[in-house]
Amino acid sequence: MTPTELLALLTDEEKVALTAGADAWTTPAIDRLGIPPLRLGDGPHGVRRPQEGSGLSMFDSHPATCFPTAAALGASWDPALVRRIGEALGRESQEHGVDILLGPGVNLKRTPIGGRNFEYYSEDPLVSSTLGSAWVGGVQSAGIGASVKHFAANNTEQRRYGIDSVVDERALRELYLSSFEPVVTRERPATVMAAYNRLNGTHCTENHWLLTEVLREEWGYEGVVVSDWGASWDRTASIPAGTDLTMPGLGRADDRYVLAALRGGGLSREALDAAVLRVLELVERYGGDEELDRPVDLVAHHLLAKEAAEAGTVLLKNDALPGHGVVLPMAPDARVAVIGAMAAEPRFQGAGSSHVVPTRVESLLESLREREAGGLRVDYAEGYDRYATTTSAEQLAAAVRVAGEADVAVVVIGLPEVYETEGVDRRHMRLPECFDALVDAVAAVNPRTVVVLQNGSPVELPWVASVPAVLECYLGGQASGSALASVLVGESEPGGRLAETFPVRYEEHPVSWLPAGPATVEYRESLYLGYRYFDTAAETVAFPFGHGLSYTDFSWTEAVVTGTPETGVVVRLTVTNTGDREGCEVVQVYVHDVVSTLFRPEQELRGFGKVRLTAGESREVEIVLPPRAFAFWDVVNGAWVVEPGRFEVRLARSSRDVVQRVVLTAAGEEPATSGGEGRAREVGPVAEGYRRPGRDRGFGAAAFTALLGRGAPANRSDRPGAFTLDTALRDMQGTRTGRWLTRFLTRQAVKTIGAPDLGPVDYVAGEVVGQFSLRMLPTVSDAVVSRRTAVLALRVLNRLTRPRGARGTRGQGTGESI
Ligand code: BGC
Repeated sequence: MTPTELLALLTDEEKVALTAGADAWTTPAIDRLGIPPLRLGDGPHGVRRPQEGSGLSMFDSHPATCFPTAAALGASWDPALVRRIGEALGRESQEHGVDILLGPGVNLKRTPIGGRNFEYYSEDPLVSSTLGSAWVGGVQSAGIGASVKHFAANNTEQRRYGIDSVVDERALRELYLSSFEPVVTRERPATVMAAYNRLNGTHCTENHWLLTEVLREEWGYEGVVVSDWGASWDRTASIPAGTDLTMPGLGRADDRYVLAALRGGGLSREALDAAVLRVLELVERYGGDEELDRPVDLVAHHLLAKEAAEAGTVLLKNDALPGHGVVLPMAPDARVAVIGAMAAEPRFQGAGSSHVVPTRVESLLESLREREAGGLRVDYAEGYDRYATTTSAEQLAAAVRVAGEADVAVVVIGLPEVYETEGVDRRHMRLPECFDALVDAVAAVNPRTVVVLQNGSPVELPWVASVPAVLECYLGGQASGSALASVLVGESEPGGRLAETFPVRYEEHPVSWLPAGPATVEYRESLYLGYRYFDTAAETVAFPFGHGLSYTDFSWTEAVVTGTPETGVVVRLTVTNTGDREGCEVVQVYVHDVVSTLFRPEQELRGFGKVRLTAGESREVEIVLPPRAFAFWDVVNGAWVVEPGRFEVRLARSSRDVVQRVVLTAAGEEPATSGGEGRAREVGPVAEGYRRPGRDRGFGAAAFTALLGRGAPANRSDRPGAFTLDTALRDMQGTRTGRWLTRFLTRQAVKTIGAPDLGPVDYVAGEVVGQFSLRMLPTVSDAVVSRRTAVLALRVLNRLTRPRGARGTRGQGTGESI
């Protein structure tokens, strides 16, 4: 039977049931009509199929290949490679019976301290959407559905369940939605995951503009919108807005309020039928068991993970020392001091829902020791305690001793698990102090010191001038250790380029100064995200966007640029490997609008191409820039517009290393000002002011109001007695009941997330729980607490915390509905 025929046969109860999970991971089966269940599972860098009976634990899952995280894949700038990983993930999903794999995450890295940055590709929408598309294409080619997430403007983990992202329309269109749009329109992912946060006042799961007007009507999306886990509180609001499937399910008793609304007219039959039909189409396409045509080759997947880790490793620095040449790659018979517990026990993935139990793990230390037979001599010093992240006088002394005796000292440090986890943003961009002290101590005794970083997002490098070489490995998956060994000894080259800017200090990042919480996050930097800010303001950075060195050298011929901005442009050039070994080059194309009526960043990445060349080899690189590459979003007419005038096309090795410039002229259209009297003009002068380098980070309150076209909503904590379902527990700490609830839930969370490799679990649990709002209680309690009980708890909490003399708040703006 077709989905439409099935729809006609379903009872109201069955229809309502199909709009929410049967449990945390599956959709309901309807046996009498032969409708099978559909299984969803995380994602994105490996398949997490929980062991039966493991409850909500994130760490008790069937082993699967842990590929490099998106942060590392982002640095690969290699869609063909990411597609192959998608194909491999698709096959492992088949094997684990997962029909929909929850990924990729294509949110932009708005701030370097985002706790979930390791799960995202880039600060740039072109890199992010290109790699996200490749991932979706690969997974779906194996017959598994993808779930592009988290739609949209989900860029902070602090108060993530209720925070309101306040974003002006140009930033939303030109950056945050641009990271999703190509993935949706080109790859047609089976599902799109609506995020936890609010966007301009409305929860994403209830945001009709986002899910229906933009996603479906403008982009033509026909698949299923699934809520992030717990993000859809009220199906009578989320279904009409465009959320088809609410996950997880809270038990069938939870369907009653939806049925009542359907019968009482509070939910239209049309909206329900549309959602159910889409779920049925999804089940028809991806549900049911399929036989694997051949077993999964885990050895091949491990080798693919290694190849990807190498491709995502960025050589940030490799200075030549007088009389010695560059430090990397190391000589095959070098005496090397390997320092740092992460060399023996690597940090290779982030913490949270994406956590994968790997099929095997290789460390740098064992991989280097395997080369001792070939002449390499390896000494090891732990340097610090891997989980407590402390170093003792003895550990330091041992590190200094082995470093002093070696030809090369390799210090392996990074961000410990507790620093980077879903649900918690970092507080700063620094490494643990003892790591910095360790590098200083080693560099003082060995001038040939290489620092290796294992982290999911930028860190401050206070010692960078005193070491000749730095490798950023990101969180490179289960084969990161052997990949790093290959890179160090030069069997492979570090193929990565930064897909994000490394600021010198966090305080120099524009977002560090902007209002973030308790109620809203104001995106006052607007278009000036990452390098778009640093390049416009001409500020010094530690390492620019797009940067990464190779072990070989390349030359580029003069580029031939054909076409016009309105019709699209093709850039062609020939790249030659002029060195004596194989290597990769990434040609980056930025567009600079020479004179614009509206504010625009100094330059924006609009195309890129990666080539791998053997020594002496040449290849033509062709990069296509569609008209959109020159356009801005016209907020007055709701359209993309190419303005008349000149554009400079810049061919570069990084945003700060421009090799060639070509100027083009567009006849273009006049940007419209009618109808939106003054809006386009109003933002002009602000832009001029913002262009001045200096402390002027982000639009001021008045300018932001002009940009939004309305005043930014109040950014105040909910008062005791007037808490809402969105109030984060961390904002209830002024009340005794709020503190008690936090302690109670933290104890539960420790049991759930307790894992040997997390370090101080109670700290993480406390931080994670602090972000909870009461709307998450049913989800995090695995439906032990119902929606009704959560609302009652909110009422009791408000009654208990209401200041003396204040009037009751029952039902007033608390966001409750049961
Ligand atoms: C995360 C999603 C994930 C889901 C299921 C949520 O908390 O935000 O990325 O797919 O849980 O585990």
